[in-house]
Amino acid sequence: MFDDQASNTIKAPIMTYAKKWALILVLSTGPGWINAQQNNEVPAVNSNIFYDQAGNLILQHKDNTYYAYSSPPLYTLQQLYGNPLGTENGLIFDFGDFEGTLTYGLIPYGKAPHPVPVFRFTRPIENGNAEINIPYDFRYPYDFVGWKETGFLTIGYRLQDREGMIVYDGEVSLSGTGPFEVVPAIAEGPFINGLTDSSAVIWCRTTLPVKAKLEVNGELMSKRKASLHHEWTIEGLDPGTEYTYTVKYGGQEQQYHFKTAPKAGSQEPFVFAYTSDSRHATGGGERKIYGANAYIMKKMAALAHANDAAFLQFTGDMINGYLTNNEEQQLQYTNWKKAVEPFWHYMPINTGMGNHEALGYIFTDTAGRMRAFIDGFPYDSFSAEASYAEAFVNPVSELISEDGSQYDPDPDSQDFPTYSENVYTYTYGNVGMIVLNSDYWYAPTLQQFPFSSGGLHGYIMDMQLEWLRKTVARYEQDSLIDHVFVTQHTPAFPNGGHSRDDMWYSGNNQYRPFINGKPVVKGIIERRDEYLDILINESTKVLAILTGDEHNYNWLKLTPEVPIYPEIWPLEKLHVSRPIYQINNGAAGAPYYAQEILPWSDHTQSFSVENALCLFYVEGPTVKMRVLNPDTLNEIDSVTLRE
Ligand SMILES: [Fe+2]
Repeated sequence: MFDDQASNTIKAPIMTYAKKWALILVLSTGPGWINAQQNNEVPAVNSNIFYDQAGNLILQHKDNTYYAYSSPPLYTLQQLYGNPLGTENGLIFDFGDFEGTLTYGLIPYGKAPHPVPVFRFTRPIENGNAEINIPYDFRYPYDFVGWKETGFLTIGYRLQDREGMIVYDGEVSLSGTGPFEVVPAIAEGPFINGLTDSSAVIWCRTTLPVKAKLEVNGELMSKRKASLHHEWTIEGLDPGTEYTYTVKYGGQEQQYHFKTAPKAGSQEPFVFAYTSDSRHATGGGERKIYGANAYIMKKMAALAHANDAAFLQFTGDMINGYLTNNEEQQLQYTNWKKAVEPFWHYMPINTGMGNHEALGYIFTDTAGRMRAFIDGFPYDSFSAEASYAEAFVNPVSELISEDGSQYDPDPDSQDFPTYSENVYTYTYGNVGMIVLNSDYWYAPTLQQFPFSSGGLHGYIMDMQLEWLRKTVARYEQDSLIDHVFVTQHTPAFPNGGHSRDDMWYSGNNQYRPFINGKPVVKGIIERRDEYLDILINESTKVLAILTGDEHNYNWLKLTPEVPIYPEIWPLEKLHVSRPIYQINNGAAGAPYYAQEILPWSDHTQSFSVENALCLFYVEGPTVKMRVLNPDTLNEIDSVTLRE
C-alpha cells in the first residue's frame, strides 16, 4: 500500500494533495479537474463514476460527490532533456521552470565496460538556463574521451532541485570541435531483454529521433523511420553463446555483449538473482533519485552481475508512483532504469508490477481529502498497466486481460486493462519463471472504499489464475523444465509491514475486488488458497514463490504443520501435499518494515531488514540460495532449497 500500514493509506495523500487543492480553488478555472476536454468513456467495470454536466469526472456515493483530481507533472523527461542548443563554445540548456544545480562530466563510452558519467563540475541553473563551455571545461588534461580527435562527446549531467534532491541524470551528445551541434544521445539503454536460447531483444531510447541501427553477429538491422524508442529482436542465435552487439546512432556507437541462454533443458549450472521494492527512501543523495532508491538498486545490479547472474528478476515497487499523470511516472521509471543501466547492457532485468506502479484518478471531497483512487483510463493509454508497458520491454503472454471472466460486462469489447508485459513467463536452462501481477487494475482505496470498484492489492483475479493453472500444467508436462518459480509482488504470508493486506488482510476473507459495483465471489484468503493449491497440488516442480512488498528478507517453508488460517475458518482448508517455499525479498531500498506476529511466525526464518539480493544457484536437480547485502557485501543467509 502507501508508505505505511492500511490505516495511513488515506491520511498520507491528504497531506500532499490538500496543498494543491488550495491552489485549484484559487484558480477556480479548475486545471486539476478531469473535464470535458479530457472526456473518455468510463469503463463499464467501474461504478458510481460519471461525468457531470460541466464535464467533470465525478464519483457519487450516497449524497456525496467527489471530483477527480489530476495533478500536472512536476517534471517531464522532455523538460529534463533540457532542450540543449549547440553554441560556438559548447551548449546551452533550457530547463524551463526547473531551479537548482547542474553537475556534469564526460561519459567514457567504449573506454569502460560500464560507462557512467564522471562528474567534474557543478553550477547553478539560472532562469532555467545553464551553459557549458566545452573547450574550457574539457581542455587538456580534463579530456579523457579524445573529443577533439573523434569530433564527438557525450556529457552526463545531474539535476538537483533547490532542496538538493536529485531529479534526473541525463545525457547530451555533441558533434564538432566548435561550433558544436547537439546530436542524438542514448538516454536509456541499450538494454537486453527477451533472452532465450536462440533470440534476444535489444532496446534503447534516444534524446532525439534517429534511425538507429543494431549490428550483431555481422548483421546490420536498421529501421526505416527515425524514432526515440528503438527495439530489435534478434533471432536464429546459438544457445549458450556470447554475442557482441553495437548500437549505432547518428555518428556514434556503443558496444556491449550478451550471452544466449543455454540450450533448453540444459543441466549446466547457472545463477539468477531476485529482489524487489526499490522506491525512493530517506537519507538524501542517490537513495532518492526522484522515485527510486538508485543507490541500492545500482549496487543490486552490480552485485548480481559480479556474481555472474544470468538475469535479475525484480517484482514490483521499483518506483514511488501513485501518480495521476504518466509523464512523471515515466520520469520515475527512467530514474530506476538508469540506476541499473550499466549492468542491463549485459544481463536481462525482468520486472513485474507492484502497488506503487499505480497511476490513475484520485477523487477528493471539497476539502481536498482523498476518497478514492482508481486505475486510470482509457486503459490502453492512461492506466498503470499501459504506463508500465511503455516503460519496459518484457515478454508478452497469451493472457490479454480479465475480459472473458464471468464478470466481463461486454464480451465484444475489452473492458479491463492489459496484462501485456506485466504477466508472463520465461525459461532459462531447466528453470521456468512465472511472473504474476497481484496489483492488477489496482484501486489503492478499495479496501476502505469499494464503491468505485477496482482490483484489490494482493488479489490474483480469475483469468490470471486460470492462465497460471495452464502455465503450471504446461511446465509440469515439459520434460526440459525441472524447477518452476512463481513471483508476484505480494506475499501469501506477510511477516512485517503488510499483515493488514497482501494475501492475508489480518485474516479477514471479506476483502476482494469489486467489478461494476459488485464483489467477486471469492475472498482474498480463499483466492490465496486456490493459488497455492495450483502451485502445490497441481505441480511437482514449483519450488518457491518469490515475493516482496514487505521491505525485508525472510523465508518460510510451507508444510502441513504451518498454521495459515484465522482462528475461525468455516471454509475448506488447503491440503499441503508437499512443501513449498515462500522467499520474501522486498529489501531493495524502500523504507524498512520490522517483523510482526502472525500465525506462521514460528516458521518464518532469517528475518532481516538488511538490503538483500537473493542469488539462486541452479545445478541440474539442485537449487541453493545465497543472500547477500549489496551495500556491505556480507552474506545474510544460505539455504539449500532442493537437493
Ligand atoms: Fe508494495
